Amino acid sequence: MRTLIQTLSAVALTAALCAFPAAAEEIPRLAPQGDATQLLVDGKPFLILGGELGNSTASSLPYLEKQWPTLKALGLNTVLAPVQWDQIEPVEGRFDFTVIDGVIAQARAHDTRLVLLWFGAWKNSMSTYTPAWVKRDGQRFPLARSAEGRVQEILSPVGPATLAADAKAFAALMTHLKAVDGDRRTVIMIQVENEIGMLPSARDHSPLAEAEFRKPVPAAVLKATGKTGSGSWEQVFGKSAATDELWQAWSFGRFVEGLASAGQKAYPLPMYVNAALNKPGVTPGGYPSAGPLPHLYEVWKAAAPSVFQAPDIYYPDFSHWAAQYDRPGNPLFLPEADRAGKVEAPANAFWAIGEHDAIGFSPFSIENVADPASNPLAGAYALLRELTPTILAHQGKGVMRGFRPPVSFDGVVNETPQTVTMGDWTIKVSFVDPWTPKDKQTFAAHGGLAIRLSDDEFLVAGSGITLTFGEGVGLEKVVEGRFVDGNWVAGRWLNGDETHQGRHVRLEPGRFQAQRVKLYRYK
Ligand code: DGJ
Repeated sequence: MRTLIQTLSAVALTAALCAFPAAAEEIPRLAPQGDATQLLVDGKPFLILGGELGNSTASSLPYLEKQWPTLKALGLNTVLAPVQWDQIEPVEGRFDFTVIDGVIAQARAHDTRLVLLWFGAWKNSMSTYTPAWVKRDGQRFPLARSAEGRVQEILSPVGPATLAADAKAFAALMTHLKAVDGDRRTVIMIQVENEIGMLPSARDHSPLAEAEFRKPVPAAVLKATGKTGSGSWEQVFGKSAATDELWQAWSFGRFVEGLASAGQKAYPLPMYVNAALNKPGVTPGGYPSAGPLPHLYEVWKAAAPSVFQAPDIYYPDFSHWAAQYDRPGNPLFLPEADRAGKVEAPANAFWAIGEHDAIGFSPFSIENVADPASNPLAGAYALLRELTPTILAHQGKGVMRGFRPPVSFDGVVNETPQTVTMGDWTIKVSFVDPWTPKDKQTFAAHGGLAIRLSDDEFLVAGSGITLTFGEGVGLEKVVEGRFVDGNWVAGRWLNGDETHQGRHVRLEPGRFQAQRVKLYRYK
């Protein structure tokens, strides 16, 4: 006869097995929902409320340990952390994963997910994270040369031994991650290399590269660029810095594809590449050239289909750059949304998520935010965290909009009200708060999002925005509130001064809040 204890242990065992279903089914992946691409973690859509660590923070476990109070105070659910090739393979073929295992253990202890950044052959154009046995062997691992023939500390992307060595190390990392994390999935995504780019010429002029450059343009490049004809790169595209950059982008992209596919063969996590954006008006060679830049999107996509592309945005015109990475099948992810601590970060996050179904937002050097608990990003992330299930349920369905005043490249904020159509409603969004003296307002920090929950009902969230709905449209009901465990918990009913007696919906500046709004038409 089965004892009670036996029955209970059988139940506990079944529960434990159910809690850890087959890992393969649950590996994080990208999946479409409507016209959006979502990131699925543990089989469910996930929104990264993240921050990227400074380059060296995760290379020392005691140093990283001290940063968690800041990371937790900001309310991050995901930390972006580098893994250095030189640290994991100091001697060729001998891998040491002590540090990355410690990073994963710390993230788990703090209930936080990780996006790991593979600092391999390239980091910000240069090749500083390669192990000494790579650095010191220019014969086996050839370096790029400038147009004048000067050797650069930048590995050539056409050195076959370089790809083989980088891919071997990357595949070893991915194999290790699968072994230590395949059941827990603390690591949810991988960045392949960091801000790949060519300097000071638009392309590599090493002897190997010159030989490749003289070869016929591959059919995939012709297709990606919409060109016809045949012949060498200069025969097809003409002799120019743009042609040089195109060849370099294709060569970098093919290298990345070799790397990413080797890694995904071991453990198929979603992978992306990040771009150091080009300064407008500067010709290739004058900026880190040939990375996954907006004007090279198609050639990168053709060269490296296993990764998606993401911008690092340090320029003030955030929305201009971000919008160019929301493309079919390419989700918008902001791994470096400027340096952490900028006043506009929360508005950028709300806008990117509301307007472009972003899968995540992450300012750089996140551990260096002063007074993290009182930084506006903490309030913004707290609200976004509450809203996450609602946001994810509505991604890709054409019922969500994001609002923020556009900013020029020179940093001039355009606070002109914006008019958007949502369903049958025309909404004017103003960024100048009606009840706060204008000189006390920081317009760049104002922004939010709206979700049309049903024909006449909206969820509006953010800070420093005021919505009006035009003639004949009234506010049937406006209620502030919160989501607790995914359920709306109503707070104050806002019929009087807070809505200017039904004239507008106002999210005051200085704090992040959500309101539920029901409209009606009066005649
Ligand atoms: C962009 C790079 O991707 C980061 O690793 C870091 O170097 C920052 N620039 C510094 O601003």
